[in-house]
Amino acid sequence: MSTVGVPLIRLEHIAKSYDLGEVTVHALRDISLTINEGEFVALMGPSGSGKSTLMNVLAFLDSPTQGSYQFSGTNIESFDEEYLADLRNTVIGFVFQQFHLLPRTTALDNVRLPMQYAGVKKAEQIERAQAAIEKVGLGSRMYHKPNELSGGQQQRVSIARALVNNPKVLFCDEPTGNLDSKTSVEVMNILSALHTEGKTIIMVTHEHDIAEFAQRTIHIKDGEII
Ligand SMILES: Nc1ncnc2c1ncn2[C@@H]1O[C@H](COP(=O)(O)OP(=O)(O)OP(=O)(O)O)[C@@H](O)[C@H]1O
Ligand SMILES: [Mg+2]
Repeated sequence: MSTVGVPLIRLEHIAKSYDLGEVTVHALRDISLTINEGEFVALMGPSGSGKSTLMNVLAFLDSPTQGSYQFSGTNIESFDEEYLADLRNTVIGFVFQQFHLLPRTTALDNVRLPMQYAGVKKAEQIERAQAAIEKVGLGSRMYHKPNELSGGQQQRVSIARALVNNPKVLFCDEPTGNLDSKTSVEVMNILSALHTEGKTIIMVTHEHDIAEFAQRTIHIKDGEII
């Protein structure tokens, strides 16, 4: 399977502003960008430069105020809200700095969640959740709740949850931001392995040694690529 050089994401002159009455915040100013299938891209830039906003636009969580966004060759403006919601559930996985796991809920049930939204039958949910948890090396922690897991283990559960619907793209917003350096490397090794298997990964980070796990780094400042 070779998907090298096939554009997955293509942004042309994307802008995103927030109208707050008195002031308008220009979170993204003029972003043009192509990301190919199977690429591992790091996104770096100072606080407030628009990284999370860009990730939210890329992941169909937020719509741009200007410009065009083609995903797999189709302009997303031609998708209705229902289809976009469906894409978010099936084509995209999200990993956050704060893990965003449900408290008082086992690793297994946290990982099952995206499949519940996707209407997968219970037996299959359990089977696929177990496989995803084993894949991130936590087979012995299926029934642990977040507060019974280390930070790195919680992040691995959240990676398992992001993977469980077999998404095309993994969006990681500061996936190691809450982890020490040793645990960060463990998490990055998992992301690298997923990239080797063919996943497209787009990751925000503040740390240069974390960005080095990616093939390409995009620098953003004041809502623009520099
Ligand atoms: N919902 C919103 N309403 C108004 N302004 C917003 C909103 N979301 C983000 N902004 C503004 O847009 C700009 C970009 O924010 P964004 O969260 O994308 O930055 P970031 O690069 O992710 O920063 P950080 O590294 O601190 O996470 C900031 O100036 C922020 O205040
Ligand atoms: Mg951010």
